[in-house]
Amino acid sequence: MQIDLKIGRIGSEIDTTVIIGLFKEDRLEEGDSPVMESALRRYLREIQAMGDFKGDGGEVAVLYPRGLAPPGRVILVGLGKRDTFDLESVRRASGAAVKKAIKLGVTELSSAIHGLDVQGLLPEDCAQATVEGLLLGAYSYDDFKTDGADGSSLESLTVLIPRRAQSRDIRAGIEAGRITAAGTNLARDLSNAPGNALPPRKLAAAARKMAAQNGLKCRILTRKHIEKERMGALIAVNAGSEEPPRFIVLEYGEPSDGRDTLVFIGKGITFDSGGISIKPSGGMEEMKHDMSGAAAVIGAMRAISALKPAVHVVGLVPAAENMPDGRALKPGDVITTLSGKTIEVINTDAEGRLVLADALGFAERYNPAAVIDLATLTGACVVALGHAASGMMGNDEALQDRVRAAGEVAGERVWPLPLWKEYHDQIKSHVADVKNTGGRWGGALTAGAFLEKFAGRPWVHLDIAGTAYTDTARPYCPKGATGVGVRLLVQLVKDWKP
Ligand code: BES
Ligand code: MN
Ligand code: ZN
Repeated sequence: MQIDLKIGRIGSEIDTTVIIGLFKEDRLEEGDSPVMESALRRYLREIQAMGDFKGDGGEVAVLYPRGLAPPGRVILVGLGKRDTFDLESVRRASGAAVKKAIKLGVTELSSAIHGLDVQGLLPEDCAQATVEGLLLGAYSYDDFKTDGADGSSLESLTVLIPRRAQSRDIRAGIEAGRITAAGTNLARDLSNAPGNALPPRKLAAAARKMAAQNGLKCRILTRKHIEKERMGALIAVNAGSEEPPRFIVLEYGEPSDGRDTLVFIGKGITFDSGGISIKPSGGMEEMKHDMSGAAAVIGAMRAISALKPAVHVVGLVPAAENMPDGRALKPGDVITTLSGKTIEVINTDAEGRLVLADALGFAERYNPAAVIDLATLTGACVVALGHAASGMMGNDEALQDRVRAAGEVAGERVWPLPLWKEYHDQIKSHVADVKNTGGRWGGALTAGAFLEKFAGRPWVHLDIAGTAYTDTARPYCPKGATGVGVRLLVQLVKDWKP
């Protein structure tokens, strides 16, 4: 969607719909203001005085000034208390307001930028978060809706700023918000796609198309190449599927000029039935989202291509479908990975770590300054952290600090989990170099320890099993895929200093 920037007092446009945020403790003062159109200000003062609108975070009210002020419709959104207000509050407020607008069938929408007068927040960041909230909140997945009922009515979006002085920074923020939201919504589309619509072959085609449209290099390895590269784990996980596997390589920039190379790896299981260690049927449909790590990497690569940072970024996706079949991988089988290390397969449902083992080995060819993998890897991680944060493990404190900081700014929280020797002990095998499960306890950590055996340094693993999709709508995300990881990776790249 096209987003325009308009400089002038908020609410001065006649007959449009405008989103305005109000803090809980703020009372609009009497008199004129350079920020908001005077009649509208007077009108909102009266509404505030009535006490119906409290300004709580996420609170939404629709007002019809009916000639008392220029806008035809005002969507008032609560910003909560000033002292707890942050960029995430901005996104939430924007998301709640835009959802209301879409419900009302609004076609032309304008919005104030939230938080511009809050100490410690940069105008550019407020603009970015406002736009992210609007575009992410407006998202719906309706590729398979034949009646078009759920689609958004929005045709134009205008962001309002009161003063020209800030317009350069704000324009940059709007652009950044547009780019990260587009990357995130692409990731959501890929993750929400049903398993039959997006097998590895189609996931690769989608990556190739994205790359062609955004000037990225793209190499797709088919079965023959995957076998030639000796990615025995990727072949094994896909062995029970009628669909062929793919290994996707996306590349932004060159390793020249002493630029650092960052490698992002996304788990790309387009459907995870569990294989021979088959999952219970209840909720199995959610396993179409088991390529959310891949979706995040593809979405982030798109955003990075638009932002043009001075780094070299490689995106890797091992893509497979995990199915039971006469030719499928079996418990007890031993497989050999790209690195030559062998794995005893105890449970074919612990397939993500297998395909990641090959990808982590492949990543080392780039001599990377950092490797980050994202994977819907374990139910145990959801038990540990719920849906509030992704689990973070790794072998380098400094990189973990960077990832954690990027997640904080981007509104995609991660939380550190340990990789102690005990977890490595749990995955010792009597017949191979390592086995793919570590027993009942500490499932997220034994999975992380398994990956550590195949990773170079520095490396970070993000277990996004609890954050990649949601079964209840959130302030700026409907039920289904969240697109988690895109904004974090983009923020990390933006802040990257060699
Ligand atoms: N894709 C699943 C993990 C998962 C579970 C993601 C729930 C999202 C929500 C993964 O492949 C898996 O099946 N993991 C097993 C590992 C076990 C067999 C050691 C798990 O977590 O149960
Ligand atoms: Mn599994
Ligand atoms: Zn899986």
